[in-house]
Amino acid sequence: MTQTLFVVSECAPLIKTGGLADVAGALPGALADYGDEVRTLLPGYRAVMGKLGKTKVVEKFPDLFGGPARLLACAVAGLDLLVLDAPHLYDRDGGIYVDAAGRDWPDNPERFAALCYVAATIAVSGAGGWRPDIVHGHDWQAGLTPEYMQALGATVPFVFTIHNIAFHGNLPADRLGALRLDPARFTADHFEFWGQISALKAGLTGAAKITTVSRTYAEELLTPEFGMGMDGVLRYRQSDLVGIVNGIDEGIWNPATDPDITPYKSAAGKAANKKALQKIFGLGQSEGPLCVLVSRLTEQKGIDLLLGALPELLDRGGQLALLGSGDPRLEVALHEAAAGHPNVSVKIGYDEALSHQMVAGGDAILVPSRFEPCGLTQLYGLRYGTLPLVALTGGLADTVINASPASLASGVATGVQFFPVTTQALGNAFVRLCDLYADQKTWKTMQRNAMKQPVGWETSAADYHAIYASLTEA
Ligand code: ADP
Ligand code: GLC
Repeated sequence: MTQTLFVVSECAPLIKTGGLADVAGALPGALADYGDEVRTLLPGYRAVMGKLGKTKVVEKFPDLFGGPARLLACAVAGLDLLVLDAPHLYDRDGGIYVDAAGRDWPDNPERFAALCYVAATIAVSGAGGWRPDIVHGHDWQAGLTPEYMQALGATVPFVFTIHNIAFHGNLPADRLGALRLDPARFTADHFEFWGQISALKAGLTGAAKITTVSRTYAEELLTPEFGMGMDGVLRYRQSDLVGIVNGIDEGIWNPATDPDITPYKSAAGKAANKKALQKIFGLGQSEGPLCVLVSRLTEQKGIDLLLGALPELLDRGGQLALLGSGDPRLEVALHEAAAGHPNVSVKIGYDEALSHQMVAGGDAILVPSRFEPCGLTQLYGLRYGTLPLVALTGGLADTVINASPASLASGVATGVQFFPVTTQALGNAFVRLCDLYADQKTWKTMQRNAMKQPVGWETSAADYHAIYASLTEA
């Protein structure tokens, strides 16, 4: 049994922009089944502070990177939290990483360095009498933690999980002093990256063990295409890098108990949800599959590829219902596509309940990502009998079994994969999807296979537990 401090910038159900929050919200509960105890250090954003209920002040910092701060302990939604209440850093309107206009907050370096600094103080002196055996940071926002741990003389191991290597948390070297970083360690062995400070690199070089969120992404990260500048560091650290696929929170994503849908135990129960979903999106009946997509709208997610390939779906009577927000250019292009075709409907925004209704009511769920460290929506799709159509990359490669003649013959197929990740290959995948849908016997077999596939946290939590055990037994 280990006591682990999670250091993370978002955590469901308190604050979420993507899958990182889902993982941070679900993994502690799954680890508890193995006897491990997690406390989660989270920034006290304005939206978080309003949801905490009863808190206890366990630490005070008179000057934390430009202002006073307090560390609050509380329990919310089954999670043990340590919330960093630092109003000068986190008490503001807008997003958690960006302002209302979508620009990164200029003081993001200080905002997340402060989180890492406080994590290091907890590693050294504990918080409210609780001391971690392991510090486990997630993504660049937690990357500077081992630097501060080193500076403050912490001796516990640091584990670092890469959820998405695209974000480096780079900042100019002239911030070294302001961030209380050791100039002697501003070298390529530690956190210097092409003349800048890289929070991500600090995490990669300072971790005892590096994990990422699928086996295929762990391999992809070693290549220049997917490593995004960090592939060299990762090749150097290859023997300490391991891929552990994400699970889903089956308390929240379960078609038999989901309060946002008409619950069902077998795929036959999807019909009522499909009808309801078509109504919500203003779509009529159609003979092809209703495809759904729920996503951040960014370059990563391949939305432009989808727009190019859409005619192959629509020509065969397929439909698209899409929910997302992000890049304004993609939002405009999606609105145009919806205006141009009665079988395309788009909602721009963020809506948890609607995302459940879409996963329940869709026939297929689309994830045409250029890269995808793990991806969670294809896992929701599997659980709900909503067959995933995905790019063959990262966690999408590891969690979906492509409908090939062989996998169909042996009755194990669960979805459709396409490669290379191009408009043309996606168009061909739509043709295959529509052919499979037209063969309802095969489709139903695939739905049964999909719904049987284990997509919870059990196995992966065991893998994290084993890593913690190996580091603390040493
Ligand atoms: P990423 O973390 O790269 O965004 P994931 O697939 O791992 O991708 O996780 C995305 C999470 O965010 C899922 O839980 C998904 O349902 C949710 N999500 C994304 N966009 C929206 C949206 N517009 N409305 C509701 N939920 C969304
Ligand atoms: C990232 C990745 C996504 C992954 C999520 C949780 O945001 O883009 O693939 O599922 O983190 O690990």
